[in-house]
Amino acid sequence: MNDDVSAFNHGPILCVVGARPNYMKIAPIIKELKRIPDSISTRLVHTGQHYDPEMNDAFFTQLQIPPPDIELNVGSASHAVQTAEIMQRFEPVIEAENPAAVLVVGDVNSTIACALVASKRQIPVIHVEAGLRSYDRSMPEEINRVLTDQIAELLFITEPEAHGNLLREGVAADRIHFVGNVMIDTLRRCQARAVPPQVTLAAVDQRDLFLSADAGYCILTLHRPSNVDDPRVFRHILETVRTVSERIPVVFPVHPRTRKQAATLNLQGLLESPRIALLQPLGYLEMLGLVSGAQVVLTDSGGLQEETTALGIPCITLRHNTERPVTEEQGTNTVVGHDRQRILAIVDDVLQTGGKRGRVPELWDGKAAVRIKQVLNEWLQQRQEKLAIAN
Ligand code: UD1
Repeated sequence: MNDDVSAFNHGPILCVVGARPNYMKIAPIIKELKRIPDSISTRLVHTGQHYDPEMNDAFFTQLQIPPPDIELNVGSASHAVQTAEIMQRFEPVIEAENPAAVLVVGDVNSTIACALVASKRQIPVIHVEAGLRSYDRSMPEEINRVLTDQIAELLFITEPEAHGNLLREGVAADRIHFVGNVMIDTLRRCQARAVPPQVTLAAVDQRDLFLSADAGYCILTLHRPSNVDDPRVFRHILETVRTVSERIPVVFPVHPRTRKQAATLNLQGLLESPRIALLQPLGYLEMLGLVSGAQVVLTDSGGLQEETTALGIPCITLRHNTERPVTEEQGTNTVVGHDRQRILAIVDDVLQTGGKRGRVPELWDGKAAVRIKQVLNEWLQQRQEKLAIAN
């Protein structure tokens, strides 16, 4: 793909973000690409898929991401409308910027939308966090991942299993680079600045309960459509959380779509308990501090499965599968689906023994972005040479 060097452009690398989990991934990449010597020209595009201040602003400040150069302001809509809207608004950006490549991260709608536009305009696509597979095509993210990897020219992977996944889908081996995990670059860089749990929980009723050294607390996050869209599933999860909270207090920063669903389905009552603290979505440094101090994390997030493995905190994943198997095989993660008895058994084990221990996976060492830049510099160099020969 894109071997026609006449299609090679000299503009910047356009880096795309759209939704909250993208920010932790792009931060170390932009920082590294801008670093002198060998800096690489970049421009940051924000699609506006996430737009609430608590889903955005704090992340840019805390992660020291420069303000976006270009904002597409798409906002929320159905998957089709949101993806189409991003595509329509991104195409003129490609035209104006004439980028050397478009770099996308993760698996959100903004990732596939911008990758698709770039590919149709013959601009090479670079995918960071490629090759992860849940093999569950009912997840919107799985579709985004598979399709983005099919049209990417350079694929940066976080764990070895991704390599096999990509080869099975026909991706050429020389396009795949195992560089480690940029999420963990951000975690390591921010650990010293994490906000202590006492500060984040200061305004919570019963704060003494949550901060007592004996009780500890569990962090809960929940936002996947498969968990919050079906009233029976959502109710079952919230009833389980209530039972968990009888054993250990639960701190729950609530994602906007989850808050909306709980209201629509009239399930908020299940969360009214002095042992469950409901918070607004938190900034990165607040969340990092809270997770670092937690005894256990209950989640359906991809990023938290990785962060808990890096921090050595037991994680219970409320899904039937994971696209990040290294977190189960080597890390602290256990994938449980919605099985209440298993969840309670793991919580009991955490309370009695400290729970599952693991080790930090290979190359999750805080240097993934450095490796990405090395590969990119070589790749840009090779393209320059091809161009010179062609002319
Ligand atoms: C998106 C990603 C998901 C990622 C998650 C992290 C896709 C398909 N999904 O899911 O992979 O794990 O981000 O948060 O791209 N909303 C607001 N304010 C906002 C953003 C969203 O109120 O700033 C509400 C809106 O009601 C919106 C809903 O949340 O319709 C869903 O937002 P959307 O970006 O479509 O998906 P997420 O569930 O956030």
